[in-house]
Amino acid sequence: MRIKEVYIDNSATTRPYPEVISEMSRVMDEEYGNPSSLHRRGSEGERILNTSRQVLADILGVKNNEVIFTSGGTESNNLAILGIARRNRRRGNHLVTTAIEHSSVLQAFNQLEKEGFEVTYLVPEKNGVIDPQKAVEALTSRTILVSIMHVNNEIGSIQPISRISKMLKAKNPAVIFHVDAVQSFTKFSLSPQQQGIDLLSMSAHKFHGPKGVGTLYIKDGIHLEPLNWGGGHEKGLRPGTENTPGIAGMALAAKISTADRRENMEKMNSLKEKLISSILTEHPWAQLNGPLEEEGAPHIFNISFPGLKGEIILHALEEYFIYVSTGSSCHSSAKEPSHVLRALGLNEEATEGAIRFSLSHLNTEEEMDYAASKINSVIAELANFHKITT
Ligand SMILES: Cc1ncc(COP(=O)(O)O)c(C=O)c1O
Repeated sequence: MRIKEVYIDNSATTRPYPEVISEMSRVMDEEYGNPSSLHRRGSEGERILNTSRQVLADILGVKNNEVIFTSGGTESNNLAILGIARRNRRRGNHLVTTAIEHSSVLQAFNQLEKEGFEVTYLVPEKNGVIDPQKAVEALTSRTILVSIMHVNNEIGSIQPISRISKMLKAKNPAVIFHVDAVQSFTKFSLSPQQQGIDLLSMSAHKFHGPKGVGTLYIKDGIHLEPLNWGGGHEKGLRPGTENTPGIAGMALAAKISTADRRENMEKMNSLKEKLISSILTEHPWAQLNGPLEEEGAPHIFNISFPGLKGEIILHALEEYFIYVSTGSSCHSSAKEPSHVLRALGLNEEATEGAIRFSLSHLNTEEEMDYAASKINSVIAELANFHKITT
């Protein structure tokens, strides 16, 4: 079979399911009403919101009034972090997060520092995992919020969020716990109630839904300050006419992605094993960054080719219609060294020569065989050209 392309940059974004595209097109064509309108067209829009909210609530095992629609992961993270900090300022001005969060979390905390908050940035172990004990030790009586991502978007490390939450709440029951689950929602089973999560961010385009739409779970009883002001949409927390086609597409994508969750995870795991073992066998001088192969998420891994430049490898692979990335999508355009790899203590050569591979259950064995052979020959050629002793 001829391979047309191998898209293994699924942490940047995924290709929407055909069913999602049809459903969004149908909603735009047939059910285009504004959910706030009082007539029949409005009721259709409102029904889309209600049924979609229920789908997402059911997947998380939460109440539908605990689910808010947003414009994606960035907005969900900003609303959660800025909203909680500003609303609870009277209780304290200390916040805790990690050094390896997505920029939409880190920049929100940077903004809060400018507003007078103090932020502790936890540094992970070499495998990219935060020691729960360190999170607990960071807590003070003034800590109001802890924000820790579930799966890291650059190296695939998985944080022990249930354990962290349990230990945090044992020390300070009033602390609010936010989790950025943008890279894990629909892949890992998430249950905010059982896992002690107060706020959870998700983004549709990471699970074969549309871009520009996401969800924030907010536990009943948790209050936050909105970022925007306008009509009373989404309980006043996120005003603006709702993106009904996007929301319908997101709910459908979540339904499809979670239906075969286990099989999808097993498939990605075996594709990941295949690709890693082929690359590391052929190029033993390359290094797997972050978690050990069996400890990381099945869909994200990061390999450094010290001495080579990630960007050159990326463009060389593009010639073969193989799409990867050099880090998170924002870093690749900013051309800044990855803050995640630096937090792991990698040297400059390893950081500059890093490639992130991120898989989807829609990738195939044949694609991995093709990708492995092209990646191996591209790396061999570049290593030879740069006279890297392997
Ligand atoms: C871990 C993580 N959080 C948040 C985001 C931002 O999501 P969005 O692109 O929907 O704004 C991303 C996107 O790459 C991500 O990987």
